[in-house]
Amino acid sequence: MIRLIEKDKEIPYDLLLLADETMEAINKYVNQSDIYVLDRDNVVIAVYVLQTISDDIIEIKNIAVDTAFQGQGIGQELLKDAINRAKERGFEKIIIGTGDAGIKQLYLYQKVGFEIYDIKHRFFLDNYPEPIFENGIQLKHMIMLKKELK
Ligand code: ACO
Repeated sequence: MIRLIEKDKEIPYDLLLLADETMEAINKYVNQSDIYVLDRDNVVIAVYVLQTISDDIIEIKNIAVDTAFQGQGIGQELLKDAINRAKERGFEKIIIGTGDAGIKQLYLYQKVGFEIYDIKHRFFLDNYPEPIFENGIQLKHMIMLKKELK
């Protein structure tokens, strides 16, 4: 079962750091967000973070699955759960951003119905102290995807 956590007790930073490079970046959104986790045998193995952007828009700021459990459909399950919760909470749109070299993420997000609507140019060059590489390519731009909920 995917559950909302109590933030003062159990923020799974180890998992959040799989999706975001620095604690500094995570701390910019984590305290104003809802954090949902998935447990297996009482251990947290996956997480996603929802932040309200406006009355109509909510954003998945972070989504991560423990490396030992990746590729088993859990990421897709989390995305569907996030979409359902956003709908239930009455938002019109859910958005998510990922690095331009994040091939698996871009595939997965589009598979569950997100579509690209914007590119934040130089996001990873201007907001992180060190270069970040994914699939052997340096991340430069943030690709923004959205899904209409109504
Ligand atoms: N290229 C294209 N597709 C791929 C690749 C690849 N290199 N590797 C796997 N896939 C496919 C799989 O075949 C599967 O598709 P299918 O269902 O059609 O077979 C899909 O990608 C993976 O689906 P899941 O198993 O549901 O995904 P998973 O449980 O591995 O979770 C996630 C995906 C969250 C991206 C996970 O890999 C992860 O935690 N990665 C590290 C953290 C991360 O990058 N998070 C996202 C950053 S962006 C953000 O947080 C807003």
